[in-house]
Amino acid sequence: MRTPLIAGNWKMNLTVPEGVALAEQIRQRFGVQEDVEVAVCPAFTALYSVGQALRGSTIKLGAQNVFWKEKGAYTGHIAPAMLSSLHCEYVILGHSETRGRFGQSEIEAELLGYFSETNASLKKKLEAILPYGLRPVLCVGETLAERESQKTDAVIQQQLSETLQAMEPDELRDLVVAYEPVWAIGTGQVCEADEANRVCGLIRSTLAHMHHTELSEVVRVLYGGSVKASNANSLLKQPEIDGALVGGASLDPEEFLQIIHAARTRKG
Ligand code: PGA
Repeated sequence: MRTPLIAGNWKMNLTVPEGVALAEQIRQRFGVQEDVEVAVCPAFTALYSVGQALRGSTIKLGAQNVFWKEKGAYTGHIAPAMLSSLHCEYVILGHSETRGRFGQSEIEAELLGYFSETNASLKKKLEAILPYGLRPVLCVGETLAERESQKTDAVIQQQLSETLQAMEPDELRDLVVAYEPVWAIGTGQVCEADEANRVCGLIRSTLAHMHHTELSEVVRVLYGGSVKASNANSLLKQPEIDGALVGGASLDPEEFLQIIHAARTRKG
């Protein structure tokens, strides 16, 4: 039985005091619960302080990105050892916002060339964090144009295969995959629960095919994209969905706690 994971992606929001205040509120209201795992992923600047605010609680800390080099002249980048020294447990990899796959026409043109993550760079990041015990939350998902041209399944299979190829099942035991349709992120346009369930099932069967059925049964597959308290129940009760990667709603403690509650009661 896979323990559901609810991870809050705070993106480029919250100063250090604001992040600490939010972490304290979540901590206080979450208490200690073992039937769901909760993580928050602040900006790099707030990782240390938020980590301190969560010390002694079961709420995990995650980072939003990492660089694959161990150290050196890489101005502005963060190495895996730096994250593990802050007791980070999770690292989001391949978010569509770092892949530059915004999928929306209103995005400023200059941003599109700035973010340029590829499956090849993600593979390097994945391989770099595993020796540090950091757990990847690998995001995959299609743009609106890809969905409309019936390419959803092929895009997701390609993202998975190019990133995870030639890795041993044992190395991937801590992998979490998040299905994040690009058109659903930050748009309020959530993917229908049965379609999200279908794609999460496709992710699991792709892992089984590439690696091993046993691995595909332990890897958690999350859904992300406009998850809110009002739609969390229907998404989280789907059998293939093991939790959620929550953006905007994770900045509101009330919403975030209701989503956690939906994960706890999903089989009930
Ligand atoms: P959203 O973001 O919940 O604001 O749509 C999800 C994500 O980007 O991980």
